[in-house]
Amino acid sequence: MRRTGTSVDPLWYKDAVIYEVPVKSFCDGNGDGIGDFEGLHSKLDYLQSLGVTCLWLLPFFPSPLRDDGYDIADYFSIHPSYGTLEDFKQFLDAAHARGLRVIVELVLNHTSDQHPWFQRARSAPAGSPERDFYVWNDTDQRHKEARIIFVDSERSNWTWDDEAKAFYWHRFFHHQPDLNFDNPVVVTELLTVLDFWLDLGVDGFRLDAVPYLIERDGTNCENLPETHAIIKTVRAHVNKRPSPPLLLAEANQPPADVRAYFGDGDGDECHMAYHFPVMPRIFMSLHLEDREPIVDVMERTPGIPENCQWAMFLRNHDELTLEMVTEDERDYMYLAYSMDPQGRINVGIRRRLAPLVGNSRPRIELLNALLFSLPGTPILYYGDEIGMGDNLYLGDRNGVRTPMQWTGDRNAGFSKADPAGLYSPVINDPVYGFPAVNVESQESDNASLLHWTRNMIRLRQHFKVFGRGSIDFLRPANTKVLVFTRSFEGDTLLCVANLSRTAQPVELDLRAYAGATPVETLGYTEFPPIGELPYFLTLGPYGFYWFELQRPHG
Ligand code: GLC
Ligand code: CA
Repeated sequence: MRRTGTSVDPLWYKDAVIYEVPVKSFCDGNGDGIGDFEGLHSKLDYLQSLGVTCLWLLPFFPSPLRDDGYDIADYFSIHPSYGTLEDFKQFLDAAHARGLRVIVELVLNHTSDQHPWFQRARSAPAGSPERDFYVWNDTDQRHKEARIIFVDSERSNWTWDDEAKAFYWHRFFHHQPDLNFDNPVVVTELLTVLDFWLDLGVDGFRLDAVPYLIERDGTNCENLPETHAIIKTVRAHVNKRPSPPLLLAEANQPPADVRAYFGDGDGDECHMAYHFPVMPRIFMSLHLEDREPIVDVMERTPGIPENCQWAMFLRNHDELTLEMVTEDERDYMYLAYSMDPQGRINVGIRRRLAPLVGNSRPRIELLNALLFSLPGTPILYYGDEIGMGDNLYLGDRNGVRTPMQWTGDRNAGFSKADPAGLYSPVINDPVYGFPAVNVESQESDNASLLHWTRNMIRLRQHFKVFGRGSIDFLRPANTKVLVFTRSFEGDTLLCVANLSRTAQPVELDLRAYAGATPVETLGYTEFPPIGELPYFLTLGPYGFYWFELQRPHG
């Protein structure tokens, strides 16, 4: 079987394993209670040994931090709490020296209201070039068809500005005015931002909240052709580089609309987009003990150009969004995964992976096995590799952004600061608290989730077919079992997963592979060869197999 490449393959992102990390939460190098680049730098050995190949950093720019840095006040610098540009460069060089790629956030839809562009715009006369950086109106009655995204905190997408004597448009918090993408100067300014970080050597950008760039009357102001035109401009711009960076689209939309962010032809927009449609359906399938939600959404997902790739994830720094499921589905998802109303926010559930599945190790393993075997590049959220918990009593989505738990010592080994001085309390409940859940103890426990995760990443990286291959679903009679093959350049893997809490039998029609021998990849154990009869397997609760189908030589 083909192994994944490490070199300068332009399609490197297809074979990547991405690790999502907020700089402030990972490690505090200077002891002020806030994670920083010095701390992150010091943990590169850990990340390398975990086996991830790419780091995605959450926003680290100067910001009033009212949306955890997604409210940018200066695109060209580092928030002083996280270090200096020099610290960033040193970290980036060190990551590259270890073969780790680094992608950063490009928050292009909006800025902080503290950004000099907005300060200038509100005091400039109506109709002036300065005012024209943002989207203004005399009333709050325009674009009524656009939904409100942060329903728990905002009543309207318009907010009155007393200084400008006009309303300004914002799809997120009212302190995050949307930039005016109908103004070509705005686009040019953002291309300068891209160039700045590319010149420093970053490997890619996550295009935050990208469906909302352009507004038009009589539409819901999402996924408009004019928005796609802007993304094509961005792509054409970065394509001028000798090794163009990765562009990753954050578009929480139905399958066909997400597909559009890969662009036309052989892909002239983003290289990658999150598979938002499948994420909640993985949790639905687990709850229903039925493969249908996953199979259905995967089959409804249009094909993508050869050089494009889905970004797969189970959890991230936001809530488990339920915006794109039906009302009935939303209801049972809340019942299944968030009995505690405190766990709900906006249209979703603000919980980490382990608490979502009742801290069940078999369920965590099953979900990760799906994450690593469905088509696309997997993204792990920091701390989920050790099964960290969350804190529902912190506001907004901060409960899933608590300090990384390194040891059982003070502040979980995250910081030497006075515990009261941490940017956030560490998790300290009896089940998920740092004395029980931390990297150090899991390193010394061969049966730990950390060791398991590391092993699975290694195993996945052994087979190029996971990142590159096609998928075909089998439909055995037992619907509690999800079965698919992944194929690439003559290699085939057979993945079988039991979504149920009890043991299950399954009979597979594998006649297309008659003569081949399934080899279970974790133990490299040969199973009986495939013949013309149904192939019979049994799986333990939440069990899964990845088989390499070895054809006889000859
Ligand atoms: C994206 C981010 C989220 C942020 C929002 C507004 O959805 O993932 O954390 O609040 O954009 O910038
Ligand atoms: Ca610090």
